[in-house]
Amino acid sequence: MGGRDWCALIVILCAFVLSTTTRCDKSKCDLYEGSWVYDESYPMYDSSKCPHIRKEYDCIKYGRPDLTYLSFRWQPTNCPLPRFDGEEFLRKMSGKKIMYVGDSVSINQWQSMVCLLHAALPPQSNITDETINSIRTVTYQDYGVSISLFLSHYLVDIVDEKFGRVMKLDSITDGDIWKENDVLIFNTWLWWYREGAKQPWDYIEINNKILKDMDRMAAFHKALKTWANWVDSDVDTEKTTVFFQGVSPSHYNGVEWNEKGVTNCAKERLPLNGSTYPGGVPMARWWWNKC
Ligand SMILES: *[C@@H]1O[C@H](CO)[C@@H](O)[C@H](O)[C@H]1NC(C)=O
Ligand SMILES: *[C@@H]1O[C@H](CO)[C@@H](O)[C@H](O)[C@H]1NC(C)=O
Repeated sequence: MGGRDWCALIVILCAFVLSTTTRCDKSKCDLYEGSWVYDESYPMYDSSKCPHIRKEYDCIKYGRPDLTYLSFRWQPTNCPLPRFDGEEFLRKMSGKKIMYVGDSVSINQWQSMVCLLHAALPPQSNITDETINSIRTVTYQDYGVSISLFLSHYLVDIVDEKFGRVMKLDSITDGDIWKENDVLIFNTWLWWYREGAKQPWDYIEINNKILKDMDRMAAFHKALKTWANWVDSDVDTEKTTVFFQGVSPSHYNGVEWNEKGVTNCAKERLPLNGSTYPGGVPMARWWWNKC
């Protein structure tokens, strides 16, 4: 259990640092240039008291002994980040529907958000948490704000056909559900190179052809194009704000974080400092570094 939420933290950091907007931010304050600073007033919630957290992520409850990692705060180099104020957030988002769509990185982000809000509100607040058609939604009834999680490892469809499970790189039917929200936060990447038992599809469909497999980077590229075209054609961007929250590196090769021979991040205790990951950016970023 130990290293899991530390991995989660690395994932969030990296997703943050590697967010697609990194190199495109022309404003004075680049939120992605900075460092992790220790802050005694953190953490802002106790995960063991958060009713929305999945057990795999609840490291304190399951006895992780070191807690230092919970007290780091991201500090951009050139500007202060205001401290998160849950009640102010809910007032500003009053009446809005927010949805996270993606893999376990999205679970992390969603859980952090709903736990931050849970801790920020008085105990008598009316907070409901329900799962309908696999979509988990926490609603802050006093503000009319809902925050949902839609798990989708690849964003594009996976359909059960007679001959097997087909990943359809040209199709996003779940988008009809997503686009009803006011804010959408997407991520996908970590599943694209998985094979064998870890691969939840048997065939790939692209341009009306069924293939057993193909270059995974080309497949990822195609799926993101389908996604981007869907945003352009189907999402009313006057109403709905869309974020692509970035990609995360995997953490199976310690060389990437200056620890040769290490094959996971189970024993890591402190964040890497600075804005540059020693292992470089994940391949997913290679072709979209340009604005
Ligand atoms: C990272 O560097 C900053 C600035 O030098 C320092 O304040 C901070 O404590 C460091 N954080 C870690 C995790 O070493
Ligand atoms: C909380 O809000 C829901 C939805 O409006 C409502 O059905 C429920 O009765 C409320 N619960 C309390 C304790 O007020």
